[in-house]
Amino acid sequence: MASSTLSPPTPSRLCSSKNGLFAPSQAAMLKPTRSPQKGKGAVKIRCQATSIPADNRVPDMERRQLMNLLLLGAISLPTAGMLVPYASFFAPPGSGGDGGGQVAKDALGNDVIASVWLKNHGPGDRTLTQGLKGDPTYLVVENDRTLATYGINAVCTHLGCVVPWNNAENKFICPCHGSQYNNQGRVVRGPAPLSLALAHADVDDGKVVFVPWVETDFRTGDAPWWA
Ligand code: FES
Repeated sequence: MASSTLSPPTPSRLCSSKNGLFAPSQAAMLKPTRSPQKGKGAVKIRCQATSIPADNRVPDMERRQLMNLLLLGAISLPTAGMLVPYASFFAPPGSGGDGGGQVAKDALGNDVIASVWLKNHGPGDRTLTQGLKGDPTYLVVENDRTLATYGINAVCTHLGCVVPWNNAENKFICPCHGSQYNNQGRVVRGPAPLSLALAHADVDDGKVVFVPWVETDFRTGDAPWWA
């Protein structure tokens, strides 16, 4: 706090104090009061120093905000770059179809086109494709030259060997321990304890799409053991 006695104040005048002078821009001018000791017309002016820096620099908020944004971006981008692959590790692989389905792949890894498949595979054909979760899955061509609405998972329910189709026997016969399954994959001889798993085989936009089978097993009338 500094005080001084001056003739009528003007904004351009300096306020004096024991410690020196204050420019108007550096001082808050308080309400002038008349001083009885100094005679008529004398006005007491009180000046209060403010906290504005001596070099008159005013904090630049826009620049501060810009720097904050740049800092945020510099931190966020690498963080997101690390989080996305980490999160995708826990996400299921892309379906390629609706409802959790997956487009069937042929032996070369190409999408199975239903019309093309039927041109090259005759009635009764059972050929392996890549199905849900990459499991080997048979596509079945019915006797009327249409695709069956189900695919048969080729993984043996005994110890997991891939079961080949035996056209002469009209069965799937496991080479590992001799388990046998009929032409729809129902177990007919052990030691396999269960029938081969099923998947829906739909046609979506011309492509064969496998969809998880969660309904009753039409071969046994039981709930699906694989679902
Ligand atoms: S793995 Fe198929 S019968 Fe044992």
